[in-house]
Amino acid sequence: MGKSGKDSLLGNKIAAGVLTAGLILWGANRIAHIFIPDEAPEKPAIQLAGLTPAAPIAAPSGGQESIIPLLASADAAKGQAFVQQQCAACHTLNQGGANGVGPNLYGVLGGPMFAHAGFSYSDAVKAKAKGNWDYASMNAWLTSPSSFASGTGMSYAGIHNPQTRADVLAYLRTLAASPLPIPAAPPASAAPAQAAAPAAAVAPGIDALFASADTAKGQAVFQQQCSACHSIAKGGPNGVGPDLYGIVGAKAFSAPGFTYSSAVQAKAGQPWTPDSLSDWLKAPNSYASGTAMSFAGIKNDQTRADVIAYLNHNSDSPAKLP
Ligand code: HEC
Ligand code: HEC
Repeated sequence: MGKSGKDSLLGNKIAAGVLTAGLILWGANRIAHIFIPDEAPEKPAIQLAGLTPAAPIAAPSGGQESIIPLLASADAAKGQAFVQQQCAACHTLNQGGANGVGPNLYGVLGGPMFAHAGFSYSDAVKAKAKGNWDYASMNAWLTSPSSFASGTGMSYAGIHNPQTRADVLAYLRTLAASPLPIPAAPPASAAPAQAAAPAAAVAPGIDALFASADTAKGQAVFQQQCSACHSIAKGGPNGVGPDLYGIVGAKAFSAPGFTYSSAVQAKAGQPWTPDSLSDWLKAPNSYASGTAMSFAGIKNDQTRADVIAYLNHNSDSPAKLP
């Protein structure tokens, strides 16, 4: 009796301990979910009513499409409203403004990366500081800070809607005595000129071509041009490049056991869409300058569509092509 009484008392203490630990973990978890998303969700971590972009999920936004064409139609006033709601808790925006949780952002676009006076940056971003912020690098950062610099102190999921990102960039550029010029958008190349066109970051016409894509032709191209470096079999081995089974819809540059070049790190983690794969395969070295994939690219849009249809075919659950 005495013994079992002691045991049950001990049992109660353990139960209470477990419960307390559970509550603490639960609390920490709640906080972590508010501030530190464990993977980039579709929506920004800090989402405020009334500011949800019109079509936050619909766009096939791998996030790494060129932002330049969208800047032409960007709305700095919308960008300002968005920044006030989602960024101003951590960042001041006025000239000479104080650093807060994050650094003051006046003059950031066009200025040196992660170098605002008096702010102590995480080691994660110091490693990524290369030259000045431009539209492409700022676009990549704001798409997903934690993909850009894993371990960054900026606890913000990222802006997934490309047009919203363009609006924010259009606003950020106004925070400077002399705003960074917006580069000219690459011309939408006419069909006959495509072969000669330099590697544009976007492939405007590809969506229309998926409908007529030929998986068998794609397979033939793959055998000839890709299979020396890539296997494409379920559970297949990595070679010079990673195995590509199930690549459409998979997280970019994240195959287990494969060591990627640092050139693609900033682009890693977003799911591959047919469109982002098209951009990559058109000119890997423009998509991620310095990539270890030594392959000039597939310039012909229909051939690229065929290859992507073939990649998509090699999957447990092929995506619906646009
Ligand atoms: C929860 C706080 C927080 C929020 C919200 C936040 N940031 Fe940040 N931001 C930071 C921190 C902290 C850093 C420094 C990152 C580091 O040291 O790893 C940073 C860094 C930056 C930088 C780089 C600055 C430089 O000196 O090069 C830019 C640009 C930026 N943030 C823009 C934004 C924008 C735009 C938003 C809203 C869409 C936003 N941030 C939302 C905390 C935040
Ligand atoms: C000379 C070798 C080589 C050839 C040829 C090559 N690749 Fe690659 N590929 C690589 C390497 C290496 C990487 C990893 C890139 C890095 O780390 O910078 C890669 C990465 C990729 C990725 C991204 C994989 C991921 O994990 O997200 C895709 C998709 C891809 N290649 C498709 C192709 C296709 C399709 C072809 C043919 C049209 C091709 N590659 C031809 C070497 C090659």
